[in-house]
Amino acid sequence: MKGVLICGGLGTRLRPLTDVTNKSLLPVYDKPLIYYPLQVLLHAGLKEIMVISGREHVDQMARFIGSGTTDCIFSYRIQDEPQGIAHALGMAEDFCAGDDVCAILGDNVFFDNLAQHITSFAGGGHIFLKEVQDPHRFGIVEIDENRVVSIEEKPKEPKSHLAQTGCYLYDNRCFEVIRNLKPSERGELEITDVTRWYMENGKLGYTILQDEWIDAGTFESLFKAASQVRRRKLEAMKDSVQETVQNVHSEAEQG
Ligand code: DAU
Repeated sequence: MKGVLICGGLGTRLRPLTDVTNKSLLPVYDKPLIYYPLQVLLHAGLKEIMVISGREHVDQMARFIGSGTTDCIFSYRIQDEPQGIAHALGMAEDFCAGDDVCAILGDNVFFDNLAQHITSFAGGGHIFLKEVQDPHRFGIVEIDENRVVSIEEKPKEPKSHLAQTGCYLYDNRCFEVIRNLKPSERGELEITDVTRWYMENGKLGYTILQDEWIDAGTFESLFKAASQVRRRKLEAMKDSVQETVQNVHSEAEQG
């Protein structure tokens, strides 16, 4: 399986911050936002990742993530115009060379561990869902008898509160689907239309996330992501200090 990290787009909802840098490089507490979706791909053990970026600020992005690690090679493609998330994914067709793909959005922060789902993917499509309060902002799915029966992008009258998050597992047929997509009313090739194809024509699995998930594409959600990361980091530090103190006490008791 190949990884595709989708970081194009103009980030208009986060202006003027995105006049200065790419949305995915904005700080989430102590790291740039892109660090979090990148970790999802690296934790799943993927060996090759393509980063899709817009023209703006791609130099800054390359400076941060570089050419990869000893275990994983990164490559880059520029999406000249923001023609949609599915269009961005379509740019990775040659890179994927017939393999399955795990595509992840550069502004999504997952707190669940997705590695096992990614490594056990067995063809078709698989999406990750989370209950949200503001369904108008997302791709919204409807489930009936454990099957996805509808999916709509930013519905005016949402049929549920279950959002399709920004991590998508597809087999290689997704690229043919993308080649045949028509732009939506807002002029973009929609990732939701790719997922719908799997719902209608093949196997579409889903996982409902248990922990928090944040699409950090607005000021409020970017702030929330930073405070969540900070809280979890401080708690982990407190736990490790308590553990050390306990170990010192028990060593002292044992003499
Ligand atoms: O976060 C989950 C949601 O992401 C899903 O529920 C929606 O179905 C999906 O359409 C998407 O909605 P957003 O409105 O949040 O998408 P946004 O325009 O913020 O783009 C998400 C990422 O994709 C962002 O990092 C920029 C990148 N992107 C976007 C466009 C439109 C590209 O790389 N190229 C593009 O042309």
